[in-house]
Amino acid sequence: VSARTAEAKPVAPVVFAHRGASAYAPENTLAAVDKADALGFDWVENDVQFTKDGVLVVVHDTDLKRTTDVEEVFPDRAPWAVKDFTAAEIARLDAGSWFGPQFAGTRVPTLKQYLDRIERNHQKLLLEIKSPEIYPGIEKETLRVLSQQGWLDRKHVKNRLVIQSFGADSVKKVHQQRPDVTTGFLGTPAVADLPSYATFTDQINPSYTSISADYVKAVHALKGAHDKKLRVNTWTVNDAATAAKVAGFGVDGIITNTPDVVRGATG
Ligand code: G3P
Ligand code: CA
Repeated sequence: VSARTAEAKPVAPVVFAHRGASAYAPENTLAAVDKADALGFDWVENDVQFTKDGVLVVVHDTDLKRTTDVEEVFPDRAPWAVKDFTAAEIARLDAGSWFGPQFAGTRVPTLKQYLDRIERNHQKLLLEIKSPEIYPGIEKETLRVLSQQGWLDRKHVKNRLVIQSFGADSVKKVHQQRPDVTTGFLGTPAVADLPSYATFTDQINPSYTSISADYVKAVHALKGAHDKKLRVNTWTVNDAATAAKVAGFGVDGIITNTPDVVRGATG
């Protein structure tokens, strides 16, 4: 009986700190991944985009208004799109004051700076290629920088790296260019379409508002691109009740701004 009980006990979902521990520090900054580390979370989710001069930077919105002081520093550069600024210009921006005065002077990190920090913290990376439709070649350059920083060696690829996107074509490109890398598709494909997604992705990562226990079961019935169970990581769950509910659906992971709250409800 005890063996059966042990077998039946659900495994706690993996907790991913969304944009870093972004409820407690400015999103997509080194402060946010450090905060996740300080809280004891190794998996961090962050977003990557191209600057005007082709440097990868870690930022969520496709413009810089919400999370930096770009309107003050460059008042004549509306609509302040990430793709219209050089890396040197973006490096001048304050990406922390909007969140709280104690974060004044926090910068938008380049992907390289960011990887150095999460390597130092011994963290693991769920990296989102953001808005790939406006950034031709972003998959190749992301893989190049990851490789240069040692993130495509066997150890990292096996245990510490997932690349995901809302763009199915982008996920396919990553899978084609580096078939060893674990991939995730952001969205909720119809159940009938899941087998075709499973040819290029290892994870289906849907909004928590779009899933049910039956949907999770349908995903789990399939094997992903690496011939292991297709997994489900859902987002963005920031309260205990919703975390407990989706854990009950059997999700493999929960992506959250409040990793401590989610672990408290599911761990
Ligand atoms: O990782 C899931 C989540 O990050 C997707 O939405 O808009 O926060 O990038 P968004
Ligand atoms: Ca994201």
